Order: sequence, then structure tokens, then C-alpha cells
Amino acid sequence: MKTQLIITLLAATLVGCGGDAETGVAAPQPGATTPTNVQSAATTASQTVNIADQGRKRFSACAVCHTVKEGEPARIGPNLFGIVGKPAGAADGFAYSKAMSEAGVVWTEDNLNAFIENPQGFMRGNRMGYVGEKNPEYRAAMIAYLKTLKPAND
Ligand code: HEC
Repeated sequence: MKTQLIITLLAATLVGCGGDAETGVAAPQPGATTPTNVQSAATTASQTVNIADQGRKRFSACAVCHTVKEGEPARIGPNLFGIVGKPAGAADGFAYSKAMSEAGVVWTEDNLNAFIENPQGFMRGNRMGYVGEKNPEYRAAMIAYLKTLKPAND
């Protein structure tokens, strides 16, 4: 009897959760933005695990636009698997801006650092809608994380 009451209450609560009928605001789609689902690829060197893990959390600011796992489709921005050391504008099938595709930049750690700090200052005219991260420690952590996005035995 008691159990049944709880179930009834639960059901009533759940019904109230799926979308907000009063304000007309739709419930968020599962998986639409999943910054917390970003998974770290195999991190090897143990001393970088901590900083890379901090970077993985910082990367939630980027994950609204970027996927990170191998073969995942682009979102608003290109997939960033293996980005460290790659030439800019090289992801297959992504419609880059002219600024990005003709930049002739290789994503070294230094270039990533400058780009993440000030995307427009580093590469004028690119289409990445991100204001930049001013904190050098946060940038370093994000880059440490980006470095983990590569094949496990690379
Ligand atoms: C609002 C969406 C958005 C956010 C937030 C965002 N990006 Fe981007 N990013 C883009 C787009 C769009 C491009 C492609 C820009 C172009 O073609 O000019 C891009 C390009 C890049 C590139 C170059 C990729 C390549 O293949 O050359 C890197 C690296 C990058 N972003 C890293 C980041 C990082 C790190 C963050 C978080 C600190 C971030 N982005 C946040 C949308 C975003």
C-alpha cells in the first residue's frame, strides 16, 4: 500500500517534469549538449593525468560546439580528436571559414594557447564563436587535455 502511494507520487512528479507546459519551454533534449559526457581518452603519463583531467572539466566550455572522440560528427565546430599537431582546417567534411582553411597554421601547443586566449586576435575572421580564455592555467589544462585526444598507442 505504502509502495503504491510512493509510485503514484513519483509518477505525478515525473509527469510534471517533461517540458514546461505553463511557460511553453521545451524540455532539453537528451544529448543536445553533453559537456559532462566528454570522456578522456587514454592518458598515459601519470603526472599529466591531473592537469589533463582539470582540462577535461574546463573543456565543457568548448564541448557545446566540439566533439572529441574519434569519428564523432562535428557540432557547430569540427571534431577535435587528434587536433594537437594537425594543420588548421583539416577535418574532413567540415565547412571551415576561409580564414581557418587558408591560415597555414599548425596546431602546436603555442598556437593553440594563443588561439584559445583570443581566437580573433590570433586568427582574424575565423568563425569560432568563443570569446577566449584569459586564465593561462586554464588554457594549459585544456591543452593538456587536448593532447590526450589521440589513438591510445600513439
Ligand atoms: C560557439 C561554438 C564554439 C565554441 C564554444 C568553441 N569553438 Fe572551437 N571552433 C568553432 C568553430 C565554428 C570552428 C571553426 C572556425 C572556422 O572555420 O573559422 C572552431 C575551430 C576550432 C579549432 C580549429 C580546428 C581545426 O580543425 O583546425 C580548435 C583547435 C578549437 N576550435 C578549439 C576550441 C576550444 C579549445 C574551445 C574551448 C576553449 C572552443 N574551440 C570553443 C566553434 C566553437
